[in-house]
Amino acid sequence: MNIAVIGTGYVGLVSGVCFAETGVNVICVDNNKEKIEKLNLGEVPIYEPLLDTYLKRNFHEGRIQFTMDLKQAVDKSDIIFLALPTPESEDGSADLSYVLKMAETLSGIIASYKVVVNKSTVPVGTAAMTQKIFDENCKVKVDVVSNPEFLREGFAVEDFLKPDRIVIGSSSERAIELMTRLYKPFVRQGNPIFVMDEKSAELTKYAANSFLALKISFMNEMANLAEKVGADIDSIRRGIGTDNRIGSAFLYAGLGYGGSCFPKDVKALQHISSINQFDFKILNAVIDVNALQKEKFIRTILTNKEVKGKRVALWGLSFKPNTDDIREAPALYVIDKLIEAGASVTAYDPEGMANVKRKIGDKIQYAENMYDALDEADVLVIVTEWPVFRTPDFDKMKSMMHGRTIFDGRNVFDHADMKSSGFDYFSIGRQVIKAER
Ligand SMILES: NC(=O)c1ccc[n+]([C@@H]2O[C@H](COP(=O)([O-])OP(=O)(O)OC[C@H]3O[C@@H](n4cnc5c(N)ncnc54)[C@H](O)[C@@H]3O)[C@@H](O)[C@H]2O)c1
Repeated sequence: MNIAVIGTGYVGLVSGVCFAETGVNVICVDNNKEKIEKLNLGEVPIYEPLLDTYLKRNFHEGRIQFTMDLKQAVDKSDIIFLALPTPESEDGSADLSYVLKMAETLSGIIASYKVVVNKSTVPVGTAAMTQKIFDENCKVKVDVVSNPEFLREGFAVEDFLKPDRIVIGSSSERAIELMTRLYKPFVRQGNPIFVMDEKSAELTKYAANSFLALKISFMNEMANLAEKVGADIDSIRRGIGTDNRIGSAFLYAGLGYGGSCFPKDVKALQHISSINQFDFKILNAVIDVNALQKEKFIRTILTNKEVKGKRVALWGLSFKPNTDDIREAPALYVIDKLIEAGASVTAYDPEGMANVKRKIGDKIQYAENMYDALDEADVLVIVTEWPVFRTPDFDKMKSMMHGRTIFDGRNVFDHADMKSSGFDYFSIGRQVIKAER
């Protein structure tokens, strides 16, 4: 089978590489010249665990190619995946311009039957809109399929190779047969392929992300209550997470969700609801809670520590561990607020520093490693729970830092351990620890 993947970002590149891994011939297309040049040297332009190994193998064995030549890729392919951006518009809706423009361009290029698959996260009705573009402008038959992607950055290759489920939204038998054949190697262990109508497939993706965001906001509210009544959110999390009706994932309190998906997808679902005259009350609360959680974290820092003219060390920039993605990263908000309050910030992140430097430049200093960031720091603020931060040398930290205060936005340290650490320790949904001096 031959496929093309248009848009070679976090989703497109991982999809392309994983399809190639099953023996499919893949041509990845992107309009970013630098990206394609890098990929043609066998280099991965993003940080994603395992991707490098899988990409190199399939690239050297000739199963995956990278090009800017859309027509050549389309001509050679049976199935064309669109993995294009759908960023948030000003009114909260998903910006469909990349997807719809591409459908128009493809209409003028496609010369024989193709299946065009939308892998981007798109509002209800996008498959129908895209199908209309092909029906009205393309000389040959094109079937549009909605195939939302559920991979998690940081585990993207694993998730793609062993998905919990595949969702295919289509009303074309021919397209469903091709898609099912393509995905067969990924569902050999009995994980299901759900075939449904296009609208349900589109809404399934928003339902998944919004439900996960809801779990996060719920736990953040519970953490805020726990702080007030003197309870411990970690104990509560363990106490409910073992109940298999609830499940243990996404129960971690913190300073809110970020990233390229949750914020925009939850807002897009809110927009879909509002244009359909539906007041999705829980969803509105999820968004409000998430914004307040970040504000509350900053308030905790600023009311407990004078940061004006002080040095703040910041651990973690990426929106979550195991990725270099900084889109909508809470760290960017925290940095802005700290600088606004007069602090100077030195940050360390294992993978996210290059992207932050590109975005905000010399607004902050960048440290070589997590301990260098602490040099003469008055305060440490932890924003991303990278595993490397979990078991630091507290004596070394004290010897490097000027101050003795940690604000932990991700509860990376065991609360009990912190009692003897010698630090004042502020975390989320747990009691404040004051160091004995
Ligand atoms: N990142 C995730 O974890 C994730 C997970 C599931 C779904 N999604 C959805 O998948 C879609 C893509 O997300 P992403 O994170 O991969 O985005 P991305 O920004 O990493 O990748 C998009 C790619 O498309 C390319 N592109 C833009 N216009 C193009 C054009 N005209 N021709 C060719 N290439 C073009 C860009 O250069 C970029 O490489 C979004 O709708 C997103 O919501 C993302």
